[in-house]
Amino acid sequence: MADWEARKKDLADAALKARKNSYAPYSHWTVGAALLDERGNVYTGCNIENGAYSPSCCAERVAFFTALAAGSRNFKAIAIAGGPEKEKPKQYCPPCGVCRQVMAEFCEDTFRILLVKGDGQIEARTLGELLPQRFTLSDTVSENPEEREDSHENV
Ligand code: THU
Repeated sequence: MADWEARKKDLADAALKARKNSYAPYSHWTVGAALLDERGNVYTGCNIENGAYSPSCCAERVAFFTALAAGSRNFKAIAIAGGPEKEKPKQYCPPCGVCRQVMAEFCEDTFRILLVKGDGQIEARTLGELLPQRFTLSDTVSENPEEREDSHENV
């Protein structure tokens, strides 16, 4: 348990550090995230915006996609810190709905989401709390193609 408390603080610090690399010239809202996998590796991300707006990506997804691209698949926790640029975050910055859905693709309900303030305060949530009754394709469609019914006939 003491181990987890120390781990939580390290993850929170990594999220705050990653936030420094944020590229947010449009919203001026900078976010950092640090994702811990089951093997103890930490992958970080920051939000990266774009002049065409829609290509922008949240810090959480950058962290997830970096980890996934490195071959990591099983995750324990993510720390998130965000707020107006050039200020320490005074409030918690909960993940947006799109990022929660990306988490749902790879994580169980017990996946820990650590919301971090600039003073180091942490509020711990789980994915199950932040995304109840999640949608996953495996809930609705058999993973075995031979067991699938023809969806067109069922419309
Ligand atoms: N943003 C994140 O990176 N993570 C969140 O949890 C919420 C929002 C980013 C997206 C955009 O670059 C900026 O913050 C303002 O919405």
